[in-house]
Amino acid sequence: MQLQDLLFSQGFGTRRVCAGLIQLGHVTIAGERVTDAAAEFAPHGLRFCVDGVEWEYHEKAYVMLHKPAGTECSRKPSAYPSIYTLLPAPLRQRPQKGAVQGVQAVGRLDQDTTGLLLLTDDGQFIHRMSSPRHHVPKVYEVCTRHPVEDRQLQRLLEGVTLEDDPRPVRAAACERSGERQLRLTLTEGKYHQVKRMLAAAGNRVESLHRSQIGSLALPPDLLSGQWRWLGPDELAALGA
Ligand code: URA
Repeated sequence: MQLQDLLFSQGFGTRRVCAGLIQLGHVTIAGERVTDAAAEFAPHGLRFCVDGVEWEYHEKAYVMLHKPAGTECSRKPSAYPSIYTLLPAPLRQRPQKGAVQGVQAVGRLDQDTTGLLLLTDDGQFIHRMSSPRHHVPKVYEVCTRHPVEDRQLQRLLEGVTLEDDPRPVRAAACERSGERQLRLTLTEGKYHQVKRMLAAAGNRVESLHRSQIGSLALPPDLLSGQWRWLGPDELAALGA
């Protein structure tokens, strides 16, 4: 693949911008400056530096973000900064079918919810992970306003009804993790689902943190606001 096309595919701007970056000496590969925009490289696994920042070629982008509180999962946020501002420009600018689209969040978390969020430019992966049919479990750590009662745990497991749907929604798993804390596993993702389920069970969410999606747990060393690429084993475990 020509280096200018390779940079374009990774979100470094239009082909013309990418050619300019190369010709002006901003790109190195294996420590060597490459100034020929049409130079050919095998893309898979290729590592390259743009202005000293190292990148690896990824045909599709799959990343995890530790979402901080006070951020919105929207490109056009209404009140808080967008989570997309936490990602570097190439991830936001990756082209898809000729248009600049960038990665998209796999489902949304509320502005005050923290924790594990996946982002990708693979539409099929988004569909698989979000579809209720695939039952991907998501684990939430909930701090509650009132002490968690056995009766509430039972109701969450047996099913509660939310105002917009007569069918009961139930937690796939639910356990007390402290006097005012519980760990709740859901396999669907309705709007404000955890908050509404807790309210229906007679308690109230004070804070909410997503700690796991499928077999993927938020790594303890990924600090709030940080992102990283998913590794091949993590992707395989998620079925990407
Ligand atoms: N349920 C909620 O109520 N909020 C979230 O952000 C995620 C799940």
